[in-house]
Amino acid sequence: MTEKRTVVEQFGPAAADYATFSYHAAGPDLAPMLAAAELRGGERVLDLGCGPGHVALLFAPHVSEVVALDPTEAMLVEARRLAGERRIDNVRFELGRAEAVPGPEAAFDRVVSRQSAHHWGDIRRAVGEIGRVLAPGGRFVLIDTFAPEEPSLDGFLNRVELLRDSSHVRDYTVSEWRSMLADVGLEMEEAGTWNIPIEFDSWVRRSRTPETEIAELRRCFGDASPAQRETFEITADRGFRIPVGLIVARGSALRRWSRARRTQARLGTALESHTVTDRSTRATTATNTSI
Ligand SMILES: C[S@@+](CC[C@H](N)C(=O)[O-])C[C@H]1O[C@@H](n2cnc3c(N)ncnc32)[C@H](O)[C@@H]1O
Repeated sequence: MTEKRTVVEQFGPAAADYATFSYHAAGPDLAPMLAAAELRGGERVLDLGCGPGHVALLFAPHVSEVVALDPTEAMLVEARRLAGERRIDNVRFELGRAEAVPGPEAAFDRVVSRQSAHHWGDIRRAVGEIGRVLAPGGRFVLIDTFAPEEPSLDGFLNRVELLRDSSHVRDYTVSEWRSMLADVGLEMEEAGTWNIPIEFDSWVRRSRTPETEIAELRRCFGDASPAQRETFEITADRGFRIPVGLIVARGSALRRWSRARRTQARLGTALESHTVTDRSTRATTATNTSI
């Protein structure tokens, strides 16, 4: 297998494509994502893995401010350019990863992320960060590719994704998400999935998949079992459908907060640096408003 690329190596050269590629720039999932956030105006929003900023720029006119993080500088360049073109000035695009969100606990009313989580190198740490920075009663809205619960279908999808893009980490199942979110005190309220049609040639072109892996992908699709063919609707020209979904999760004040802290403590993250003052303020608020 060709050497593994880092996310920055994978996404840097593709940043301009992601700024204009129709699914990313104007996908049918953008409106449901905005609706699922149930905004009232005035919210502070965090977008994790913002890429060229499509989600951050969608949310910006409806909220007070958006902080949008991505580890790929070339993506942030595209995002700032798009924000300038649209005269949007309440989004801060910053270099960063989901696993280490800058700022104190409970800093955001909404955390959102689209088509990025399957690239996160340490999902547990990232979900811990979501639990930490989400304000009590806040919402986490995620769009990502989800693996089917059945192991051979899960294995097939993740193998195909990894062959196509060596920076791929894992498409998680909905039940994995439910459990990871529960561990930081977030309760999954909604999960809906749908299938997006994929055209093989442009799919591998977009991710600059090496020839060896393209050949392996063709073999994989050719050797797919009847169940895999049926689930992913594989066609003779290697077209298929990929399962994408929307998850909404909410945290309930003190219980959510303390469970997130316990999980982070288990993970051994150095969260103590995120200000004790803020934590005590939050605990007081939580006591007054919850359970
Ligand atoms: C397919 S793009 C999606 C961009 C954007 N959210 C959208 O909907 O168009 C995936 C993005 O995730 C970013 N990414 C990869 N690993 C990440 C991590 N650990 N934390 C945050 N973002 C990450 C990549 O740099 C890339 O810009």
